[in-house]
Amino acid sequence: MSVILGIESSCDETAAAVVEDQHVRSSVVATQHELHERFGGVVPEIASRAHIERITPVVRAALQEADVSLDDIDAVAVAHRPGLIGSLLVGVSAAKALAWSRNLPLFGIDHVVAHLFAVELDAEAIAYPALGLVVSGGHTNLFLMQDAGTIGLMGRTIDDAAGEAFDKTAAMLALEYPGGPAIERLARLGDAQAVDFPIARLERESLDFSFSGVKTAMLYAVRGTPQGRGAKARFPRTIEDVSEQRKADLAASFQRAVVDAIILKLERAIEGREGDGVTVRSLVVGGGVASNGHLRERLAEVASRHNVALRIAEKQYCVDNAAMIAAAALHRLASGACDDLNLAAAVSGAWAQL
Ligand code: KG4
Ligand code: ZN
Repeated sequence: MSVILGIESSCDETAAAVVEDQHVRSSVVATQHELHERFGGVVPEIASRAHIERITPVVRAALQEADVSLDDIDAVAVAHRPGLIGSLLVGVSAAKALAWSRNLPLFGIDHVVAHLFAVELDAEAIAYPALGLVVSGGHTNLFLMQDAGTIGLMGRTIDDAAGEAFDKTAAMLALEYPGGPAIERLARLGDAQAVDFPIARLERESLDFSFSGVKTAMLYAVRGTPQGRGAKARFPRTIEDVSEQRKADLAASFQRAVVDAIILKLERAIEGREGDGVTVRSLVVGGGVASNGHLRERLAEVASRHNVALRIAEKQYCVDNAAMIAAAALHRLASGACDDLNLAAAVSGAWAQL
């Protein structure tokens, strides 16, 4: 039996968790949304300072809730990339201090890949080969998972992440931050066919995503077509001029377009692998946007159409948390190779390109 202490601080949640063989004994998440809300996005300096204040109480709370002490921990795992460098450094430093003082193995875990392993928490292991989709505020990535240790990047966003598009659209519609849940709620009152937002297909074989087109189309739908160019451009309307029903229609149509774009690339990926003679056995989905009900419904259709097992993380493990960091580390623990105290934090991921 292995008990892992996971630590996560890559963006704006400070989190710690105790996971015992995929079973979550505690998962504590201190969100900073209230600190960033009035800026409409995460302010890196504020985030790092808040992580420093919260990391020790959050780790302590995770140990307490799991009813364990540091003596019971077998390894420390920390998200060390990708993310905001100042934020990552807080978690990485805390993890190193704990590993060093207790002489425990240390594992630096990729935050984005960990979003995939969130599906194994309190659940069965992933059946391989699997397609992995991470849709979050910072990332939109499609992976081929040959096994737990062989994960290659197949596609990524070439501009905004899916969650970022939700957040920016919510700001245009004057909804609260983070925007995803607010758009989903409003979309329930609207007509998803009302506006035909563009869906970026990119080149015929491409598995990349692009959400900047739909974002610009949304800006024009809300404010009207701008008159003049560049800094002199003036919009004929403001959000104040848009009726509540129209806002709901825009939210529903936007959500449909983003979900359609994601589904399009997923089906392309599944069919492409079939063409290569690889039968995908599972579709593994994680990240904050994976808590979206409309996306979940459409994913279920794709999975049944292609006869693959759909594995979506539980909603509490879709958004950033530390249990998923520990879940990913369990696979590393099995293989025996841990990191040393030189482990560096890094802004970008380092995924092998397929
Ligand atoms: O995974 P996450 O917590 O953080 C990152 O690693 O980025 O994802 C946060 C993102 C935000 O952009 C948020 O608006 C989006 O996930 N999100 C949603 C929903 N809940 C959260 N997007 C669409 N529908 C939702 N229900
Ligand atoms: Zn994340």
